[in-house]
Amino acid sequence: MPVQIVRNDITKMKVDAIVNAANNSLLGGGGVDGAIHRAAGPGLLKECEKLGGCETGDAKITGAYNLPCKYVIHTVGPVWRGGDHGEREKLISCYRRSLELAKKAECETVAFPLISSGVYGYPKDKAFKVALDTISEFLLENDMTVYIVIFDKYALYIGEKLFSDIGKYIDDRYVEEHSDSRLYSMKRRETALLDMSLCAAENESLLKECTLDDALKTLDESFSEMLLRKIDEKGMTDAECYKKANIDRKLFSKIRSDRLYKPKKTTAIAFAIALELPLDETKEMLMKAGFALSHSNKFDIIIEYFITHGNYNIYEINEALFAFDQCLLGA
Ligand code: APR
Repeated sequence: MPVQIVRNDITKMKVDAIVNAANNSLLGGGGVDGAIHRAAGPGLLKECEKLGGCETGDAKITGAYNLPCKYVIHTVGPVWRGGDHGEREKLISCYRRSLELAKKAECETVAFPLISSGVYGYPKDKAFKVALDTISEFLLENDMTVYIVIFDKYALYIGEKLFSDIGKYIDDRYVEEHSDSRLYSMKRRETALLDMSLCAAENESLLKECTLDDALKTLDESFSEMLLRKIDEKGMTDAECYKKANIDRKLFSKIRSDRLYKPKKTTAIAFAIALELPLDETKEMLMKAGFALSHSNKFDIIIEYFITHGNYNIYEINEALFAFDQCLLGA
């Protein structure tokens, strides 16, 4: 999955390069800068002393010494001064310059902290959005796996309003299913029976309306056939679709070449999101992969929240899934 959000200490990340939120001197400091220098050892500072500092928005690369990675990319974020002093542009430049250096060093995996969101005071949810948008834009044209490493309470990152909206949406649905276990199991049985009779009736009417080979065609359309059909109908290229789904190229070619391929649920949903399918078509595509969206788990309810609100931005959906401790979309 090209963009991953993880909770970790960046000095522990076993990737090709980690990015340091440094200051203009590049001579170390507190926060993640201090943690990286402590973990790397004195060799890092010695190399940094030769670099002659770094401009805000720019980045420089060094070795990693005792860290479990190959390189450290030092970038200097903007200090937050209210948001109308070009802070956003400078922060975007930090991610772009760091990614350029990582690409030049042929890195396949890179880990970023949330630059400027600590001592430099950039509001965490805004900093998170800049990180996600800039990284995802770079990944449309480049193959790399990028980790955004979250070090503290992550609910701050998606913004309190969205966080509470989704929380309420879950409670309204999740409670309903779990209010009384006896009632719940009765309800479950009832819905299951209803679903089965509905589905039988649907199939019957479907079979009546269409000829046998149409019926076989519709009944036989597999997940991957529906996926490829939808890509064509939407006028997308394969690459546009799998990148938007945050799926890597190798997995997509497996799905394309095997009409009976059975994807994971998160993969199937990621493609439905990339194709911006309405809820009913999302459910149809999931059913072809052997899954259903249900109100008995928060992951499904959050997906339903975003689809019914017409928000198909997979990175924002992953931010929310991450904030609610759910697994992320994409392979
Ligand atoms: N791993 C991952 N993330 C971390 C770690 C860690 N070990 N330690 C801190 N962070 C997170 C913070 O929670 C924050 O979200 O990194 C983000 C950036 O915070 P800072 O390290 O304070 O960096 P920044 O806000 O860019 O300020 C840079 O602080 O440390 C000094 O020398 C540095 O002067 C520079 C300034």
